[in-house]
Order: sequence, then C-alpha cells, then structure tokens
Amino acid sequence: MHSPIPSYLDEVLQSVAADRTGVLANYIPELAEVDPERLGASIAMVDGELYASGDTDSLFTIQSISKPFVYALALADRGFEKVLDKVGVEPSGEPFNEISLEDSSGRPLNPMINAGAITTHSLVGTETMNRAERMERVISGLSAFAGRSLDVDEAVYSSEIEHAHRNLAIAHMLRSHDILTENPTGVVEGYTRQCSLLVTVQDLAMMAATLANYGIQPVTGEQVVPKTVVRQVLSVMFTCGMYNAAGDWATQVGIPAKSGVGGGIIGAVPGQLGLATFSPRLDVHGNSVRGVSLFERFSSDMGMHVM
Ligand code: DON
Repeated sequence: MHSPIPSYLDEVLQSVAADRTGVLANYIPELAEVDPERLGASIAMVDGELYASGDTDSLFTIQSISKPFVYALALADRGFEKVLDKVGVEPSGEPFNEISLEDSSGRPLNPMINAGAITTHSLVGTETMNRAERMERVISGLSAFAGRSLDVDEAVYSSEIEHAHRNLAIAHMLRSHDILTENPTGVVEGYTRQCSLLVTVQDLAMMAATLANYGIQPVTGEQVVPKTVVRQVLSVMFTCGMYNAAGDWATQVGIPAKSGVGGGIIGAVPGQLGLATFSPRLDVHGNSVRGVSLFERFSSDMGMHVM
C-alpha cells in the first residue's frame, strides 16, 4: 500500500519553511557559514522503514545530539554505578554550557549539559584505553547506532577547539574535583571531535529509532547497547535533553528528545519510531527554531505525547 508519510512530511516542512527567525551558532565560526535555509525531516520506524523529506542527504555536525549516545556507551562499558558516581541525572534548568556542578562533590548535574557530557566522554571504553582507542570506540559506537560509518568534520573540529575556552575551563573544574582523572585538554579534544561527527537527518532518525527499538538497530539488527541502558538514556533525555527549555518541551511535545547547535533535533517514541529534523537557525536555548515547531506538529498530528 502507498504510504501517506512522504507527502505528510513535505506538507509539514512547507508549513515551517517561511519562519526565518533564530540565528546560526556563531560561537563556532565554521557553523556560522552553513546555509541557514536548509530544512529536512525524517522518520524511522522500528521495523527499519525510513521516510524523509527536504534536505535529506545534507551532512551537518551532530553536536550535542552525540551526548545521549555517548552516555549510553559509557553506561554499557562501565556500568551504572561507576557512571552515576561521576554524573547525576537531575535537570539543571540552565543553558547547555553552564558549569552546573553539585556544590561539594563537583559532580555534574546530568550528562546532557557540557560538564556532564565531557565527563561521560571520558568514561567510554575500558579504564586502560588510551585517547585514540577511546575515540575509536566513540566513533564506532555512534556509527553502530546509525548503521553506517560516520566521519569527523575536521574543519568544524578545528574551528571549535580553537574557541573551546569555556569547555576547557569546565574540564579543569572537573579535574580539580577528580571527576575527570586525566588531562582535561585531551578529554575536551575528544568531546569536541565527538560533537563534530557528520550526520544526515536520516542518520539521526535511525539513531533515534535504535533508542526507540530498545537498543537494537532496526536495519542491521545489532544490539548496540542493552535495553536497561536505553531506559536510562531516554529518561534523562526526557528531563534534561532540551536544557532550560525542557519543561516547555515536556508539555508541548512530550517525548524524549535531544537538540544540537548544528541544527538537528531527535526524538524517540519507544516501541514505535525515531524522528529527526534539521534546520540550522537556533533559538536562545540553542535549539533549532523550525525543528521545535516541526516536533510540535508531529506530536499533535501523531498523538505522540506520552500523556
Ligand atoms: O560543547 C559545545 O559547545 C558544542 N560542541 C555542543 C553544544 C550543543 O550542541 C548544545 N546543544 N544545543
């Protein structure tokens, strides 16, 4: 039977195309150069069926959308206790780049803000891995979620690392509390490289669908991380994934989600589907303006809100 989803996606993209509000992520010079008009959306069902419309093959950097997947790898590799010892699960209600450490212990409030994500990056793989081996585990792990090999955008990486003073300051704070136990510069380099992985909106929908499918990649059939890990990751995405817009998101859209300053947003409906949007202009929280509108439409049209 002919699916109505492709024409639905075309129509929904059309409905937000005229919105030119928001700004590009100019704190990373290379991101300020992208075409602001890009617009795409994709839906991946847990059976592997993939739908997409608009800029379906444009590559852009994953940025903070890498955070839940790296959190998943850290939980799978080191176990819940070791990871929870270093990174909490409480919403910060603050912007993504706030320091947000618990007062006495220095433990970051959650793995979606930069302090927590820099820490979870350091927890991927085994304790004896060197930086290159850990990076390889991060890239191959995220590639397994996507179902294809992902590459780093070296230009975006260099552009961001040159201006990474705030993340370096956060990493030094974490090192002073022994939350990080190694050279902070090396960890920030790895974290920034992780954020510079190139994806399409279709890759992101597949990655989200792997979460929706309880850790099994819908096309390759690989169990990328255990189901218990996915439950933890989706719970944290629900409460912390949209930073200080998390409350608005929970009421308006009502599904676990994660945004990135490259212009992507993902959402997962457990047992059903993964969704992704791409549009580079961002609101004050660093979330894609048209992406947020698209998710509001998806949620109301498809009755996705958990309530
Ligand atoms: O740490 C940073 O500043 C970026 N590489 C990632 C930030 C990001 O995507 C925030 N999300 N909306």
